[in-house]
Amino acid sequence: MKLGIPRETCAGERRVATTPEVAKKLVVKGFEVLLEAGAGVAAHYPDAAYAEVGVQLVERAACFGADIVLKVRRPSEDEARAVRSGSVYISLVEGCGEDPLLARMVEHGVQVLAMERMPRISRAQSMDALSSQSNIAGYRAVIEAAAHYGRFLPMMMTSAGSAKPARLVVLGAGVAGLQAIATARRLGADVLAYDVRPETKEQIASLGAKPIELDLGGESGAGEGGYAKELSEEAKARQQALLADELAKAHIIVTTALIPCRPAPELIATEVVERMRAGSVIVDLAAANGGNCKLSEPDRVVEHQGVIIVGHTNYPSMVPADASAFYAKNLSNLIDIMVDATETGLVLKDLTQDEITAAMLVQR
Ligand code: NAI
Repeated sequence: MKLGIPRETCAGERRVATTPEVAKKLVVKGFEVLLEAGAGVAAHYPDAAYAEVGVQLVERAACFGADIVLKVRRPSEDEARAVRSGSVYISLVEGCGEDPLLARMVEHGVQVLAMERMPRISRAQSMDALSSQSNIAGYRAVIEAAAHYGRFLPMMMTSAGSAKPARLVVLGAGVAGLQAIATARRLGADVLAYDVRPETKEQIASLGAKPIELDLGGESGAGEGGYAKELSEEAKARQQALLADELAKAHIIVTTALIPCRPAPELIATEVVERMRAGSVIVDLAAANGGNCKLSEPDRVVEHQGVIIVGHTNYPSMVPADASAFYAKNLSNLIDIMVDATETGLVLKDLTQDEITAAMLVQR
């Protein structure tokens, strides 16, 4: 069974869908691993490292002719056309609802598996790319904030004077938010955090941060499958008003609040940004989905009255070696449940029969 790994072509994307370490295990399991030459270079995995473990370095077209095509990002028009009928295509698909491009692939006889649709059950945890990549995003967001912040994060006492610790607020305490809290604590900041799901309070406190508690008039933001749901207009307004004072006092805000398939909730109004001290930093991880801060702009760093607002949209790609390693591991764990080893070789299972792959399959 052939696995094809083409180079990623999305602008700025540095990740690759497999690493030499993971490819080595796939080769031992009996897969023929075909990698487009140069596909790992941007993630710091040179061709030679793949060749050493038995990966075949091939031209791009050969990867798309494989039995299973593995990618990080959504297929382009050309890539969608290149995947052959009867094969399986796996990647993040980056979207909700109707998707004519993917529907065409399915009509053409390709089984498309969307990594975002991984069910949130314990058996699927090791295959969950949203979690593995959010974790990296949370870490990298704090590093980004620290780099833009013109002061120290930790308390610093020196013979030349002392500095107070930065007051850092994390909004949204899911996978990215919790990692942002942990990273900011390691860097010595005073951390406060808020999430609309009440069960996050204990998790926030266990990482050494202070949970911000708001009374939303009895409404909870806990939705289905561990995700948040959208609040009523009344609760949204109340939330913004109650959060405003805490946010205005913050030196750094890292926002990670998302609701699946909905625009990101607006949590930081312009008026709040204007109350922050000059040199403060907002890193908006939801910038690609409309932003948690009204002023953030996707893929740009902007300044508003002295406050720096960072809107990068692909933090995992800024940690490309580890992000690729985690993603590759997610994929190989998924492939394990898709394939049977028989006497005559590896055989693809019926993907509709396992609750994990069935949930991920894109329908026409
Ligand atoms: P996410 O990326 O969809 O959202 C980030 C965070 O923003 C969430 O914690 C959400 O509650 C919060 N949020 C949404 N609207 C908000 C608002 N108005 N104000 C403040 N916060 C708001 O969520 P993520 O990180 O993917 O995880 C959500 C949950 O799912 C977590 O409890 C996580 O542990 C769980 N999970 C379970 C998995 C499994 O069992 N296999 C895998 C991954 C996550």
